[in-house]
Amino acid sequence: MLPKYLTAIAVAISAAVALSPDTARANCDSGETTIKLSHVVAASGHPKGDAATAFAAAVNSELNGRICVEVYPNSTLYDDDKVLEAMLLGDVQMAAPSLSKMEKYTKRFRIFDLPFLFRDAESVYEFQDSAAGAELARSVEDKGLLMLGYWPNGMKQMSANKPLVSPEDASGLKFRIQSSEVLQAQFEALDASPQKLAFKEVYGALQTGVVDGQENTYSNIYTKKFFEVQDGLTESNHGILTYGVVTSTEFWNSLSAQDRGDLERILARVTSESRASAKASNLSAKENIISSGGTVRTLTAAQRNAWVNAMRPVWDQFSDDIGSDLIESASSFSN
Ligand code: SIN
Repeated sequence: MLPKYLTAIAVAISAAVALSPDTARANCDSGETTIKLSHVVAASGHPKGDAATAFAAAVNSELNGRICVEVYPNSTLYDDDKVLEAMLLGDVQMAAPSLSKMEKYTKRFRIFDLPFLFRDAESVYEFQDSAAGAELARSVEDKGLLMLGYWPNGMKQMSANKPLVSPEDASGLKFRIQSSEVLQAQFEALDASPQKLAFKEVYGALQTGVVDGQENTYSNIYTKKFFEVQDGLTESNHGILTYGVVTSTEFWNSLSAQDRGDLERILARVTSESRASAKASNLSAKENIISSGGTVRTLTAAQRNAWVNAMRPVWDQFSDDIGSDLIESASSFSN
């Protein structure tokens, strides 16, 4: 047992570390425009964490003296539910929230949460790169937000404190969800009870039994250790997790044309590198879960079809909000 004064010092140090931006931050000099980039996931070994770190490193080296990026990972600055409000107040200049968070600004963003809409990450990229994807990105501009691009993660898997093989196995269980009406309807369609919780609260909620299960990508499940407090995962690939790289129009318009152009160029490069590595990152997270003693169950085609049949009716509930034209356009990339 540590003496009390040492415990106090340890607590103070860990609080200071938790509040510090990520090590990818340069020491911003006075005169440089500082961009605080806030996100909620691990700083490395994760598609978004790695993209944010790479973006900061590139800006801090290539635009040194003009622009400086400080990355705040692991919800150390804001959680995803708060970050866009903070951005509109000018307290943070960039964030990469899950697109589930964008429904507050445009209901058409609900498309990204529809279960079994996208076959794989590549079909998501094709949709995001299409005219419809670009128009969707622009649809938040009248709310004071500018989506500079999309960052990838991957397909979502289910987990619970009991094996999930058929949709009936989920019945009666409490599942943590992001704050999304579509995800709520998805679990209600399984006769389960969805609970909206911030990402930083998920591990504790699973551990203490506040919720029984959750859905997320392998990279999130591994880096946040959710698998350690679950019976196992089911490789359902039932949905996707992808991000919007967002800034405020006010901040963006305060930059010079050259700064905006340079940031866009670096962002495009980092995004393409992130797409190239996101699949491998999730695969290696899956392997790490298994080698750490976690269970990953795969489904036969018939078993997976049962999940599709149970969850697919959710589309009809949201087709007016999203627009059936947009749903058709997005599904065309998975045919
Ligand atoms: C994230 O990947 O940014 C978090 C997603 C979640 O809240 O599950």
